Amino acid sequence: MKKVITYGSYDLLHIGHINLLKRAKALGDYLIVGVTSDDYDKRRGKINLEQPLVARIEAIKATGLADEIIVEEYEGQKIDDVRKYGVDIFTVGSDWTGQFDYLNEFCKVVYLPRTEGVSSTETRSANSTLKLGLVCDFSYVHKFVRESKYVNGLEITGIFTANGKGLPEDMRGLITDKPYEEFLDGADAVYVSTQPKVQFEYISKALKKGKHVLCESPIALSKTECEKLFALADKNGCILSEAIKTAYSDSYYRLLLLAKIGKIGKIVSIDSTCTNLLDAGKLNSLDGERNSIYDWGPTAMLPVFQLLGGDYLSKEIVVGYLDKKKSFDAFTNIRFIYKGAVANVKVGKGIKSEGELIISGTEGYIYVPAPWWKTDYFEIRYENPVNNKRFFYQLDGEGIRNELISFVRSIKSNNHISYISKRTSLAIIEVIESFEKGKDIKTIDINNT
Ligand code: CTP
Repeated sequence: MKKVITYGSYDLLHIGHINLLKRAKALGDYLIVGVTSDDYDKRRGKINLEQPLVARIEAIKATGLADEIIVEEYEGQKIDDVRKYGVDIFTVGSDWTGQFDYLNEFCKVVYLPRTEGVSSTETRSANSTLKLGLVCDFSYVHKFVRESKYVNGLEITGIFTANGKGLPEDMRGLITDKPYEEFLDGADAVYVSTQPKVQFEYISKALKKGKHVLCESPIALSKTECEKLFALADKNGCILSEAIKTAYSDSYYRLLLLAKIGKIGKIVSIDSTCTNLLDAGKLNSLDGERNSIYDWGPTAMLPVFQLLGGDYLSKEIVVGYLDKKKSFDAFTNIRFIYKGAVANVKVGKGIKSEGELIISGTEGYIYVPAPWWKTDYFEIRYENPVNNKRFFYQLDGEGIRNELISFVRSIKSNNHISYISKRTSLAIIEVIESFEKGKDIKTIDINNT
């Protein structure tokens, strides 16, 4: 019996796949089809698949062409499979010509003609394109434009900004001169990243027009405003999603899961630090600069509220202002006391510190090295180092790519796949509001004046 093996993602099964499977089957008597796992696809950069593994396997099964279906989970597995299943012929489409010649050592390698004019990538884009308008006053926008290119079915309509000069040169061509309402009419969704005090207006106008919103944190400056926005989104059937990119990093997400299932015992303490030192020029002229708590607070508080919740007994905010007007916090330290735990959050744009995250438990601790908010790596450490474990997950586009994919998927499936719950967003806003109102605040004089 001649055994043939072939591999692929087979997302949104199309005629090209079926032709390939028929040709592969005709090469022998028994066809094994390897379908790539979701994780493996992600690791090899295929991040846009629309169907999960089970649906892709079911579609292959339904063709009746496969005698056996296996899952491809790691690089190099093809060699293992060829030997394990006693394969005579390995085959794939001609788009891969030459890339699997290394298998000639183990079996015959055949590159079959590929069907022209059809691919999963094209089908995904053609299914429907989501038009995304960017409402942004910061140079950060170029990262968004760059990352959007990796997301199938997403088109940037332009940038609406109150601060054209603050945007990078190469982004200026995208700036719209339309009034906001008109700009909204040309989009299905908007990404909002402005000063928090104006965000409420931008977001509520978008939601009122039935546009979905992805918004940098803090969404607004008070819990009441934030609740109003979530209610408006619900009423109009819109997705309102918070854009803290770290929440969408695979590594961060996995460490949360491990902490939640008790890998370090009961969590007793969280220390989270995020700082970046502004250069001297900017420190002298803070016009339009987001302060430390706005820029870093939400990210730094994220693991605290995602692991310990928002029901702390008390908090103390210690602030060191950069200017005499007390408008810009160079450094803010927040301490949360819970019934059985404590958390210490340190943020700053006028100080420099080690940007690490340490989650301490009764049995061990999770250590994420600096800069933890862009992590692709963490360790779980125990008293006996022999038991320590290291974890690595590829981080593409600082988490922005996953954030966009999850936003687009939520809209297309009409199901909010939330990486940041409403409760977490509200807990963050409550602290920001407290900061704004000077509640639970102590000031230190970092300039010694
Ligand atoms: N294939 C083919 N003809 C096509 C598309 C795919 O023969 N028009 C073959 C590929 O060469 C491969 C198999 O089908 O052997 C599975 O390919 P896969 O990568 O899953 O399909 P694509 O449509 O190429 O997917 P994508 O656009 O996501 O890369």
